[in-house]
Amino acid sequence: MEKNKKDIRILAIETSCDETAAAVVQNGREVLSNVIYTQIKLHTVFGGVVPEIASRKHIEKINPVIETALSEAGVTLDEIDAVAVTYGPGLVGALLVGVAEAKAIAYGARKALIGVHHIEGHISANYIEHKELEPPFLCLVASGGHSHLVLVKDYGVYEIIGRTRDDAAGEAFDKVARAIGLGYPGGPKVDKLAREGNRHAITFPRAKIMDHPDDFSFSGLKSAVLNYLNQCQMKGIEVNRADVAASFQQAVIDVLTEHTIDAAKRIGVDKVAIAGGVASNSSLRSQMKEACTRRRIRFYHPSPVYCTDNAAMIGTAAYYEYIKGVRHGWDLNAIANLKIGERR
Ligand code: KG4
Ligand code: ZN
Repeated sequence: MEKNKKDIRILAIETSCDETAAAVVQNGREVLSNVIYTQIKLHTVFGGVVPEIASRKHIEKINPVIETALSEAGVTLDEIDAVAVTYGPGLVGALLVGVAEAKAIAYGARKALIGVHHIEGHISANYIEHKELEPPFLCLVASGGHSHLVLVKDYGVYEIIGRTRDDAAGEAFDKVARAIGLGYPGGPKVDKLAREGNRHAITFPRAKIMDHPDDFSFSGLKSAVLNYLNQCQMKGIEVNRADVAASFQQAVIDVLTEHTIDAAKRIGVDKVAIAGGVASNSSLRSQMKEACTRRRIRFYHPSPVYCTDNAAMIGTAAYYEYIKGVRHGWDLNAIANLKIGERR
């Protein structure tokens, strides 16, 4: 693909969990390719991601995935300006595959190396399809491992407003899905089944933490669903799984929406975005949109393919670091518990 001298092209790699992904991103927001090899089928039999298996599969797939990303973008390594990679948080063995690969390519091809925080990648996914979106804005990040309310003050400048005290929203979806026999990964399956159910059928709790209203807690909700299922079993009542899915999902969505809108109003931001796997939930998207419109807040969300794990979002986040002059050294390591905004 023809390259203008000023164009910045980044080869991005993402291997923090069970997706082996590579992408080529131009000037931050133009995705030239976005290749994802999902390992979901491999982990389904175990009911969740098995870290050791994930790492082994990443090793096997990473080179073909990168080659496909380069060829689909129509670029050679020579035409790349930097190699970006997720270096945390995530499964450490899985992260190490991507980090070692990125270092080897950058070292061999003499390119800049940029380590990216996985969640900062999720947030940056919003820039891809909303060319006009610029900070400041408030972003709800809801994924399998994280539920955060993040104030994006500027590119790469983040303040955590709220976080989960226990389970992440996606984790609650996965656990409830398992309890009602839907299997892994639970989010998309609950989302689908909920469409056939009545969201007002069962009243599940919506937790609010008194001393910190922006924080989340989903473990009580998860226990309430399990208790409900147990009680039905003990009383010999047949469970309507669609009603359970719809009522549980509604409880999660109410909490996510209310906390986000309340925080946006209090802080005084007029732009709200959502990110992470749970952000692909159809009901969350429509409820959040409605709530934002009512309060004259502009609402942004990525397409589902940019909500779940992908490397394009890593390339986008890396671009804003690149133009600031951020570079990592050859000693870049994987950090399983890397904090948002932390630079190591
Ligand atoms: O962002 P992601 O792909 O990986 C992490 O960084 O964790 O998020 C995966 C999570 C899983 O818990 C999955 O069940 C959830 O996102 N998820 C959904 C939907 N699609 C994926 N949750 C609710 N509704 C969905 N449609
Ligand atoms: Zn993720």
